Amino acid sequence: MKIHDLLIVGAGLAGMRAALAAPPQLDVALVSKVHPVRSHSVAAQGGINAALGENDSWEAHALDTAKGGHYLGDQDAIEAMCREAPADILELERMGVIFSRDEQGRIAQRPFGGAGFPRACYAADRTGHAILHTMYEQLMKRGCQVYEEWYVTSLIVEDGICRGVIAWDIVRGGLHAIGAKAVVLATGGSGRVFHTSTNAVINTGDGMALAYRAGVPLEDMEFVQFHPTTLKDTGILITEGARGEGAYLLNTLGERFMKKYAPEQMELATRSTVSLAIGQEILEGRGIDGCVLLDLRHLGRQKILERLPQIRQLSVEFAGVDPIESPIPIRPGAHYQMGGVKTTIWGETSMPGLYAAGECACVSVHGANRLGGNSLLETIVFGRRAGQKAAEYSATVRPRALPDAALKREEVHLLRLMDNRGSERAWQVRDALGTVMSTNLGIFRTTQSMTDALKEIRELQFRAEAVRLQDKGKIFNTDLVQAFELSCLVEIAETIVAGALAREESRGAHYRPDFPKRDDGKWLKHTLATKTADGPALTYAPVAITRFPPR
Ligand code: FUM
Repeated sequence: MKIHDLLIVGAGLAGMRAALAAPPQLDVALVSKVHPVRSHSVAAQGGINAALGENDSWEAHALDTAKGGHYLGDQDAIEAMCREAPADILELERMGVIFSRDEQGRIAQRPFGGAGFPRACYAADRTGHAILHTMYEQLMKRGCQVYEEWYVTSLIVEDGICRGVIAWDIVRGGLHAIGAKAVVLATGGSGRVFHTSTNAVINTGDGMALAYRAGVPLEDMEFVQFHPTTLKDTGILITEGARGEGAYLLNTLGERFMKKYAPEQMELATRSTVSLAIGQEILEGRGIDGCVLLDLRHLGRQKILERLPQIRQLSVEFAGVDPIESPIPIRPGAHYQMGGVKTTIWGETSMPGLYAAGECACVSVHGANRLGGNSLLETIVFGRRAGQKAAEYSATVRPRALPDAALKREEVHLLRLMDNRGSERAWQVRDALGTVMSTNLGIFRTTQSMTDALKEIRELQFRAEAVRLQDKGKIFNTDLVQAFELSCLVEIAETIVAGALAREESRGAHYRPDFPKRDDGKWLKHTLATKTADGPALTYAPVAITRFPPR
């Protein structure tokens, strides 16, 4: 059996960046449930932050990030990210990323919410697309093996050390053990625990669940970001870049209502502030069909076509509205998981041999609320760091035969799943979970709503275990993959709700009308969720404060 030096689970930006960071002589492989360029990073629109401007500085970027995250981000991690961002952007440019340009031919930067300077580098409104495709070219040049359309069902752990993964080959069928001296999880977020989300349907928290089941703690899972502007009905992302270019938010009275909530920053306040403001307007009856309006008309046709072509196309195709002529109906929607697998600033988890980066990890840089443009940056900076560190570690590991217990256990589990006689299909339970989460853990959460959600999720966990597979075959069995994904979703949802119910304060994306104030005395601390037979056990850890005392 093959033992790779480095095995990366997930082939989005964090995963590919980790692969490219390993020295070329190493045997690096990626395993991904989709073709790499179908990874969700491709959907990132508005930009990637770096303090490139003459009057900007990494310190200013770090302060904005710490403040925007309501001081829950670890400042050593924030410093590393903001300090290293400019060099990483220039490296992306050298790799071939086609960033949009300003009049002088330099990389153009647009304003984003909560940022003191125009700091988001962009490629029109297809920034993730531009970076992901370049990264894939580099990956092919490097000749990494890709297990394409393979689904990882568990980690191989021996004596507390990660030694590889068990994965299902979706195309041909069959469970296989893939050995590795080091494994990097880079599987993205878990937005699909909600009914509608800006996330692709593949974002089912797989990597978080793999680590959690193996005993690695998840950090700050209660902090789920609701992006202020997602398209009516479908929840498709309408980039913050639109507001960065000058778009207005209007209520049904035609008012730019942000003047009541953030008179200085207006539409470019942080996401948690803007989402809460929109929620409040809708709650008080100044919305239209559960939405408010995003007005781009004054930007003019040329600017919209040049800088925001994708959101124009999405609005036309999915809402029947051309933003050149009419405002777009939008509402806040689940967008990003600030929490994830707890790691150090080098991507190390508590398990030797296991690393994590990108949205599935919690380093933690975003704290209670992520700034727009910092997620692409996180994938690049911490993907690179995790790849470097995992490669160094792999050099210290001597290859040896894998234990077969892990594969046998998964085979037994698979047979049981195939034999299930339950009455429900996986999609039905997934739908029910989405409804529970969207109803009870939206931008406002209460003790009652979360208690109800927790009870229902525990029932859904039993229902998830009993789902019936209609397809009993091996070849491209999407029924089976959905059942695997469902088991991750119900597990991750429980950690979100348990953390949120315990945290009796409001901070950033976690807003509780029953505890409306931020409480640094009691709650300036990270939540850690560790799996037990009775659900997540919660413990707490201090936040690293280096240069910016909470204000
Ligand atoms: O609005 C956006 O373009 C999203 C950016 C982000 O989440 O960083």
